[in-house]
Amino acid sequence: MNILIIDDDPNARKTLGKILKAKGFEVEEAGTGSEAVASCGAKFFNLALIDVRLPDTSGLGVLKAVRALNEDTIAIMMTGYASLDSSIEAMNKGAYSYITKPVNMDAVLAVIEKGLEKQRLSLENKRLLKELTAANEKLKELDKRKSAFVANVSHEFKNPLAVIKESLSIIIDGLAGDIDTKQKDILSAAKSNIERLIRLVTDLLDISKIEAGKMEMRRENFDIGLLTNEILSTYEREFSKKKMLSSKNIPSDIGMIWADRDKISEVLINLINNAIKYTPEGGEVGIKLTAKENELYFEISDTGPGIPEEYKDKIFDKFERITAEKIEGTGLGLPIAKDIVELHKGRIWVESEAGKGSRFIFVLPRNFREKNTLR
Ligand SMILES: Nc1ncnc2c1ncn2[C@@H]1O[C@H](COP(=O)(O)OP(=O)(O)OP(=O)(O)O)[C@@H](O)[C@H]1O
Ligand SMILES: [Mg+2]
Repeated sequence: MNILIIDDDPNARKTLGKILKAKGFEVEEAGTGSEAVASCGAKFFNLALIDVRLPDTSGLGVLKAVRALNEDTIAIMMTGYASLDSSIEAMNKGAYSYITKPVNMDAVLAVIEKGLEKQRLSLENKRLLKELTAANEKLKELDKRKSAFVANVSHEFKNPLAVIKESLSIIIDGLAGDIDTKQKDILSAAKSNIERLIRLVTDLLDISKIEAGKMEMRRENFDIGLLTNEILSTYEREFSKKKMLSSKNIPSDIGMIWADRDKISEVLINLINNAIKYTPEGGEVGIKLTAKENELYFEISDTGPGIPEEYKDKIFDKFERITAEKIEGTGLGLPIAKDIVELHKGRIWVESEAGKGSRFIFVLPRNFREKNTLR
């Protein structure tokens, strides 16, 4: 540990220096401000004892220069009673503490010890922060590579799966010759599993594209009421299969939106799928669209188990599922929906009381345009 004593009084420097050396410190002396600054520029001092009054510069000036050279140097001002004010000012400007002259050695040593302890902690903190930052950078890089890998694999999976699905369809539809009911059932089960795989792979591809910032938006003007009705009509069989009631409230004059049609469909599909999937037989699912000023509100409600308070944010994170669920899923539907909504500068959330059903709401600006583009 090295200490620089900055004082214009050579006797004071000597006395103080001797005691500090006896305590095991390395000590250097400076008689003027410029000498002090030169010393601090040449090497790092753990601590500087600065006389408030120096012949060439003020103690405050030296303090500023010393701290500018290395902010880790602990500065302690030495002051006569008359200049207490400037010591207090010095503390405001980054001095660690001040001691009054003539110095009481025990008090000086105590302050020095405390100052050095503070420095040790702050250097340790800096080191840890640096380590954490480096580790974080490395993780980010790994995460990027992992996303790219997932994207590639998902992409490679898609075509073969589509081919298998098509082949199964051809056989099931009897286009490759007659098959009996049992064979048809087996192949249909295979087909629905392939379809699930395709959905999963599409989700993985979506999420990795979003993470890599490569999700492309193809915005267009379209009738949002029409789209919602179209999507809902594909669910009729599902509703009757689960003996569910569905209600819709879509004003016929709800109008147009400027958005990516396929992606908004995906959001609606994910939310409706969830509503049906998590609501027990005989329940109810409702869809409501409202226009408010320049925004469109979408509400998808159900009479299912609801979302406990502590899960209301979490379920929008990747792979988060409410633990007790025994229902199939990956935990990607909501994060994808959220990303898409946010890419449209909208917002999404859930309102729910556990046991009383859920209401997923998302809001989209009707006519959001990226700056300087037509999209
Ligand atoms: N309408 C709902 N009612 C009750 N719980 C829901 C509802 N929607 C979502 N959840 C809960 O939120 C979790 C996350 O939903 P999310 O759609 O992201 O994934 P998933 O449905 O499990 O799988 P995936 O959509 O990827 O097939 C679900 O696992 C479920 O626990
Ligand atoms: Mg889902």
